[in-house]
Amino acid sequence: MAKRRLIILGCGGFVGSHLTDRLLASGEFEIFGYDLTSKKCAQHLDNPDFHFREGYVDSSNTEEILGDKIGDVEAIFSLAAVCNPAEYVKNPVFTINSNFIHAYKLVDLCTKAGTWLIHTSTCEVYGRTIASYIPGDEYTDANLYEQREDETPLVMGPIVNQRWTYAAAKALFERYIYANHTENGLPFTIIRPYNWFGPRMDYIPGRDGEGVPRVLACFMKALLDGQPLQLVDGGGAHRTITYIQDSVDALTRMLDVPKARNQTFNIGNRANECTVAELARMMRDVYAEITGDSRFKEHPIEDVSSEKFYGPGYEDCDRRVPDVSKAERLLDWDPKYDLRDTLRLTMQYFHDAWGS
Ligand code: UGA
Repeated sequence: MAKRRLIILGCGGFVGSHLTDRLLASGEFEIFGYDLTSKKCAQHLDNPDFHFREGYVDSSNTEEILGDKIGDVEAIFSLAAVCNPAEYVKNPVFTINSNFIHAYKLVDLCTKAGTWLIHTSTCEVYGRTIASYIPGDEYTDANLYEQREDETPLVMGPIVNQRWTYAAAKALFERYIYANHTENGLPFTIIRPYNWFGPRMDYIPGRDGEGVPRVLACFMKALLDGQPLQLVDGGGAHRTITYIQDSVDALTRMLDVPKARNQTFNIGNRANECTVAELARMMRDVYAEITGDSRFKEHPIEDVSSEKFYGPGYEDCDRRVPDVSKAERLLDWDPKYDLRDTLRLTMQYFHDAWGS
C-alpha cells in the first residue's frame, strides 16, 4: 500500500525529531524532512521512508525548495522556530524575521496548493492573563486566567518590552493563516504548546550549545556543573509542563481526525501546573534520585533579577492554564505523564548524555 506522505519543517529539532520517530515507527508514512541540522534525527537518515534536506527555508527560497512537493503531500507540519526567551530580548529583529517574515511564504504556498498546514504556534500568544492586571487578584475567577482557544484575548505588554516580539510574530502568523483560511480556503490546524519537556530539548550550554536556553536546560546545567539554580524574579511564574510523548500523541492523532482541520488547539497537561520555584525544587529531588546522591536535595537555589538574567525588556507570562476540552473532545487526547515522571525521563536523558 502506498505510504502517506508528509512534510516536516524542523524535523531535526526537539519536537520535530520526536514526531519523526513516532511517524516512521508506524511504518505508515513517507516523510520529507527539512532542517538546519540532522543531529537530532540522524537515527533515520538511512531509512528509505525519510528524505532529509539540510538548509534554512525562508521566504526567498520556500517556493524553490518546497514548490514541487507541497501539492503532493497530505499535510505539512511546520515546527521550525526560534523559541527561546533570551533571544527575544537580545535579537528581536531575528526573532520577528524567523517567526514571521521568513515563514509566511509557507502559508501562501499551502493556500495555493490547498495543502493542510499544521502549524506549531505557542501558548505565549495569550501573553499575560487579564487577572495579572487586576490589583489584588488571586486567580479566583477562571474566566480571568484560563486560556480558551477561541475566546481568550491575547494580552501582550508594551513595545519597549521586547519579550513580546516572539508572541507578536507568532500571533500575526496565526492571523495570517486564519485570514487565508477564511478568504482563500486554506486548510489549517494551529497548535499552542504548553512547555513541552523531554529528551533532546534545547542544549546544555558549554556542552552542545552556547547561550541561555529555556528553563529545563538552565536548571539541568546548574545541577551538572554544581552551580546554583537561578530563579528569575523569585520563580513565582506558573508553567504547565507537558511530556513530549503526550504532545506527539496529540500531533499524530489529528492526522486521522477530519474535524481537527480548521481548528486551534491548546496542548498542555493541566495537572502538571507548578511555579518555577516548585519546578526547581522538584528537579533537585529527582536528580538526587537519578544520581543516588541525596546532597542534590539541598542543591543551592538563588534569586536573580530578570534584568540581570535576560537584560532589559524582559517581562514574564504570569500563568498558563490551558482549557484543553477541545483536544479531549475532538482528538480524544488525554495526557498520561505526571510532572515527576516527565522530569525523571527528561533528566535521565541529560544525565546519561552529560553526567559523570
Ligand atoms: C518559552 C517560549 O517563549 C514559549 O513560546 C514556549 O511555549 C515555552 O518556552 C515552552 O517551552 O513551551 P517560557 O516558558 O517563558 O516560554 O520559557 P522558559 O525559558 O522555559 O522560562 C520559564 C520560566 O522560567 C520563566 O518564568 C523564566 O523567567 C524562568 N527561568 C528560566 C528561571 O527562573 N531560571 C532560569 O534559569 C531560566
